Amino acid sequence: MVSDGVEEKIYPLGYEPEISPDETDPNVRNNLLDFILKSGPTEVVDTDLFAVMAKRRSTRKFLDKPVETTKIDKIIAAADTAPTAGNFQGFEIFYVKSPEKKKKLVEACNKQPYVDAPVVLVFCKNPSRVKLDFSEYILKKFAIQDATLAAGYSQLAAQALGLSSIWIGMFDEQKVMDILETDLVPSSVLCIGYPKQTKFPKPRRNLKDLVHVTW
Ligand SMILES: Cc1cc2nc3c(=O)[nH]c(=O)nc-3n(C[C@H](O)[C@H](O)[C@H](O)COP(=O)(O)O)c2cc1C
Repeated sequence: MVSDGVEEKIYPLGYEPEISPDETDPNVRNNLLDFILKSGPTEVVDTDLFAVMAKRRSTRKFLDKPVETTKIDKIIAAADTAPTAGNFQGFEIFYVKSPEKKKKLVEACNKQPYVDAPVVLVFCKNPSRVKLDFSEYILKKFAIQDATLAAGYSQLAAQALGLSSIWIGMFDEQKVMDILETDLVPSSVLCIGYPKQTKFPKPRRNLKDLVHVTW
């Protein structure tokens, strides 16, 4: 929002990045985003992307230890770096802080108890942001891809920051929407925290069975 030529920083109620640049340069497109991403490299546990990928393992048991705001900032900023259809960012993130709402989310997520995690982010589709001249079907398809990719980026960022996560896809969409008080349809719930124990990554099928080379 710009008033009297001064740009105000607007954050969602209850969430303000712990760090922000002293001065904003209007010529830098993503000033705050870049600032968060580049700040505090010492907190980042792993900067090797492939090591992060290789080590990531879903966690359903979290320590009762709060996640530092600077790490949450980075996880959210990471989502914002994901590619989106036409760069329209057809998704929204709901950062659920209320313990009561988390409890309700457990219920909405098929009673999966770990949804009550230290950090709960709900990624929702927002096809109305995607201003492309395609059918509603395509716009919805873009929005689900945008939301999914963004959550994937956040999941990797969490891993890089020494955290662990569980992706929740099993939920009652309407119940989640009622809890969040939104008409946006959720795509995934990402639960993040410090893992109770570090486990080895799960096995995968052989790459040769996964990749189908077509000439
Ligand atoms: C689309 C999708 C939906 C998922 N839904 C759930 C879920 O509802 N509950 C859950 O405990 N895990 C869920 N998972 C996590 C998977 O079980 C987990 O990623 C998988 O077992 C592979 O383990 P890894 O993440 O440690 O590699 C989901 C993952 C994806 C990608």
